[in-house]
Amino acid sequence: MKKAKVFIDKNFIVGEVDKRIYGSFIEHLGRAVYEGIYQPDSPFADEQGFRKDVLELVRNLNVPVVRYPGGNFVSGYHWEDGVGPKSERPARLELAWGVIESNQFGLNEFMDWTKKANSSAMMAINLGTRGIDDARNIVEYCNIEKGSYYSDLRRKHGYEAPHNIKLWCLGNEMDGPWQIGHKTADEYGRLAEEAGRIMRMVDPSIEMVVCGSSGHGMPTYASWEATILDHCYDQADYLSLHQYYGNQENDTPNFLASSVEMDWFISSVISICDYVKAKKRSKKTINLSFDEWNVWYHSQNQDKKIERWTQVPHQLEDVYNFEDALLVGSMLITLLRHADRVKIACIAQLVNVIAPIMTSDTGAWRQTIYYPFMHASTLGRGTVLHTIVNSPVYESKYGDAPYLDSVLIANEEEETLTIFAVNKDLEEEMEMTCDLRQFAGYKIVDHIVLTHDDLKAENTEANPDNVRPGSCNQSKVEKGILVSVLGKHSWNVIRLKK
Ligand code: AHR
Repeated sequence: MKKAKVFIDKNFIVGEVDKRIYGSFIEHLGRAVYEGIYQPDSPFADEQGFRKDVLELVRNLNVPVVRYPGGNFVSGYHWEDGVGPKSERPARLELAWGVIESNQFGLNEFMDWTKKANSSAMMAINLGTRGIDDARNIVEYCNIEKGSYYSDLRRKHGYEAPHNIKLWCLGNEMDGPWQIGHKTADEYGRLAEEAGRIMRMVDPSIEMVVCGSSGHGMPTYASWEATILDHCYDQADYLSLHQYYGNQENDTPNFLASSVEMDWFISSVISICDYVKAKKRSKKTINLSFDEWNVWYHSQNQDKKIERWTQVPHQLEDVYNFEDALLVGSMLITLLRHADRVKIACIAQLVNVIAPIMTSDTGAWRQTIYYPFMHASTLGRGTVLHTIVNSPVYESKYGDAPYLDSVLIANEEEETLTIFAVNKDLEEEMEMTCDLRQFAGYKIVDHIVLTHDDLKAENTEANPDNVRPGSCNQSKVEKGILVSVLGKHSWNVIRLKK
């Protein structure tokens, strides 16, 4: 059995967990909206056409914020097409994903849905084909009470009270050549600065996320961030990061080591933000919004066969396996370890499209990745402590990768300690010890484990509970020292309470 030591000190704090790091994402793409969250002709639909079975699974995930309506979709979108009487809404060619968009679901339906999901909106605006005028109009429609054209239009549409959306994304992946209205860093930086400035004139209380690179592999990565922030530092509250990983080579150790790279990515984006801060002699710190992250690769070949201009195709429907859940667990740990700067994160996406939740006409079920996300979101709230992990390492394409990923969160109010830990060793158990003598009187209340003999095991409609968490007795505290035995390739949640 391998051994690892975890060191913490209750005075060595990374930061408070901003609950918005447990955000998610709904894009008009594939079956995320239609047949995902909205399906009026389904036996599971409520009076507004929202799927009740999905709402329940989303509420259990405890998702405080949902990014909407895209993604690539937003860069060609006219939000006006999706408001007002449904019979008058136009069907449009949706160029980002090559489908027909019916517009039967739009901004107001989304706001109603977020309330039922116990969530809130993170609204993206179109800076691909549109600009400053549209940016101010949508804020007026959403956030002004009454007495102006767009606020009164919202009231005419049946929404007297403003939606009061606080969080706005200024475009999506504008560095990507695939993006509708793709821009250079100078073009985007200037546009984001002006759009943000005018949006704040309409509602000074809003917060703004500006587009970072679509991934750290982009040729313009780093210079994109530095250039756009040079232009729009004053308007930016958060800089976005996007990154997906896959196991195309069927090389599980390297796949699981991807969190090493994610950690480097976050640190390097922080450095760039702070470089621009220094250059500008600014007192303001830009925080990070990791607003697209997940595993994405299973569906890529299948998606090449989708015919153009169909409606609601099965698109990006990755069926996740057990090893994907392990990496999702490690990615969550990585986000938490940067709680001082990562304030928002969105697992992409929420339903049917690279998602923890899947639907069919007969019901909804949880994919493997649902579980680590649910554990982190429901139990990982409080103060992240600097968690030094002294673990054996293995060689990976990202350099040395620790077999153990871990983070500890202390919640003073609830008098709990929560440790998330992934043992990436495919052959051996890991003994993890942690000196908790500073936390006198804390006792183990649970050790939750997600594991499976088969790394490729999936949850499907026919077998929805193939991979599911259980409890074990593999943790004890003796004389203030926590000793946990973590099964080979396992996700662990160790809970202590005073
Ligand atoms: O989440 C799927 C797509 O991935 C999004 O539309 C886009 O922003 C990213 O490239």
